[in-house]
Amino acid sequence: MPKKVILDVDPGIDDAMALCLALFNPELDVVAVTAVGGNCPPDQATRNVQAIIEQLDPPRWPRIGAASPPDHALPVDGRYLHGSDGLGGANLQVAELRSRHPSEKVISDAIRATPNAVTIIALGPLTNLARVFLRDPELTSMVGEVIMVGGTVSGPGNITPAAEFNMYCDPESARTVFRSPLTKTLVPLDLTNQIVLSYDLFNKLPDESTRVGKLLHTILPPAFRAYRQRFGQEGIHVHDSVALMAAIHPTLFTIEGMAADVETAGELTSGATVFDRRRVPAWRHNLGVAIAMDREKVVDAIIQGLHQAAKR
Ligand code: RIB
Ligand code: CA
Repeated sequence: MPKKVILDVDPGIDDAMALCLALFNPELDVVAVTAVGGNCPPDQATRNVQAIIEQLDPPRWPRIGAASPPDHALPVDGRYLHGSDGLGGANLQVAELRSRHPSEKVISDAIRATPNAVTIIALGPLTNLARVFLRDPELTSMVGEVIMVGGTVSGPGNITPAAEFNMYCDPESARTVFRSPLTKTLVPLDLTNQIVLSYDLFNKLPDESTRVGKLLHTILPPAFRAYRQRFGQEGIHVHDSVALMAAIHPTLFTIEGMAADVETAGELTSGATVFDRRRVPAWRHNLGVAIAMDREKVVDAIIQGLHQAAKR
């Protein structure tokens, strides 16, 4: 029985790759793809979700949720890495802008439609999830689990010295989700930074004669250029695809129960994820954290997954 999932995304080049993997994976039933602002503004994120799905034309089209503005303006612009339109400047055409249900309503409806059977895979800021569970706390007991990408356990941030991008964009929402009684798993930068999509791996991706290959060959080269110019790094991180692998291939990951919260007021530390790892912790465990993975097998699963997707 395919696992019912909702993908909450801020596409975002690595979000787009994760969507390629998820939308064609026979083990997943992607019931909804909901947009959230982050790598690009909310309206662009919504447009990108629709454009990606139109480009890929998956066997089963998910419901689409429209991102609404966060309570506070995004504190950072992710387009330095993801391009002017969030997808490397691909400027993908959208056939028609469908009626747009807000992401938080699409998520709520999907949970109610199949209680205790939906996994939410959060690949962007946690704005939508916080809204869903603040407005309808009963839903926290109706979700299967939440898998989130972001935060850092002991490594540095990637958007500030202290904070990872998704948590930094909306720390209040991140704190709300961390403090909720949801069954949560966090895939932090400490892990996702261990994988770099090199040029060699890029050359192993499906070719442009396929829908998946055509999209990846359009959006990835600008990301390689941005990583080289910004970080002097040859190769790109694919954070969201790594987190998706935790949902598809959980045995490739080691998960440890931890106690964590999110800084919301620090002048220098806003968005930092703080873990109670004292010898005698005072905070109660509130989430599982992916502390290790079989890196080679995760890389292989991503590449093979993209080839499977290209054949569908
Ligand atoms: O810090 C990496 C995360 O922030 C990824 O999800 C990336 O897409 C951005 O949203
Ligand atoms: Ca993302």
